Amino acid sequence: MDRILITGALGQLGTEFIKHFKKLNVFVLATDIKLPKYKLQCEFEQADSLDKTRINELVKKHDINIIYHLVAILSASGEKDPFKSWKLNMNSFQNIAEISVENNIKKVFWPSSMAVFGTESKLDLVIQNPLMNPSTIYGITKLVGEKLMEYYFNRFRLDIRSLRYPGIVSVETAPGGGTTDYIIDMINAAKKGIDYTCFLDENTELPMMYIDDAINSAITLMAAKKSNLSILGSYNITGFSITPKKLLNEIKSNGFNLKVNYEPDFRQKIADSWPKKIDDSSSKKDWGWNPEFGLKETIIEALK
Ligand code: SER
Repeated sequence: MDRILITGALGQLGTEFIKHFKKLNVFVLATDIKLPKYKLQCEFEQADSLDKTRINELVKKHDINIIYHLVAILSASGEKDPFKSWKLNMNSFQNIAEISVENNIKKVFWPSSMAVFGTESKLDLVIQNPLMNPSTIYGITKLVGEKLMEYYFNRFRLDIRSLRYPGIVSVETAPGGGTTDYIIDMINAAKKGIDYTCFLDENTELPMMYIDDAINSAITLMAAKKSNLSILGSYNITGFSITPKKLLNEIKSNGFNLKVNYEPDFRQKIADSWPKKIDDSSSKKDWGWNPEFGLKETIIEALK
């Protein structure tokens, strides 16, 4: 029987994983540094992932055997305080790895990101193993995590599985402090009927995926037979690619009358160092990745 710990459980991914596991009647202990604003559909403990002793106690107390470690400071926020970002992203990763080895945790899910790539990665269509030169502290911490995943598997047989998520489009819980956040901000502005000032240039193309696909892909990867996984690090994954201009047209074609101004800021440089498109054929081949939501379906869902 799976007994799952989710760290960073109140974030964009965590809230959706909780709903997913609730439907399956699987035990979940959600932890976050914040308190929830509403009653969660699972157990909750307020805990800081940097506090290894506390997380270790919770793992033992609740007999946890699977961990979804979702704590991270995203790309744009990370640039405001890179030292804090390194500390949170890396030390929490290390804590989870140590706790997992000590407690014989069966599997860990840990999201990586397209931020691991960089200007040397042939950004028009990024393959699984290109040159990688991440320019953000966020991307650097994700790339280090990917290397550690491989190392810990070879060293301790610790089974950490990971996806390099593109921007994730969610309705209920927004991300915070990411470079791809514009897509959700623009959709929300359309729904509210207010003007939107976009922090990226209108022709900036980035890969995205709908939240349901983000959750289902992780679940499918976690269920895959380890022997089918040819990659020990993180898998490329994508839904569709879009620019702010294309998004605006899509929003308008759904009957919304939105006005957008463009004022690119420091996030433009981050976006320019990220893929336009991602080749996720290894995910399709190894564990059957198959997105359900394309561009049109995603925008329709998000505008509801
Ligand atoms: N959505 C993330 C960000 O923009 C990328 O993984 O930081």
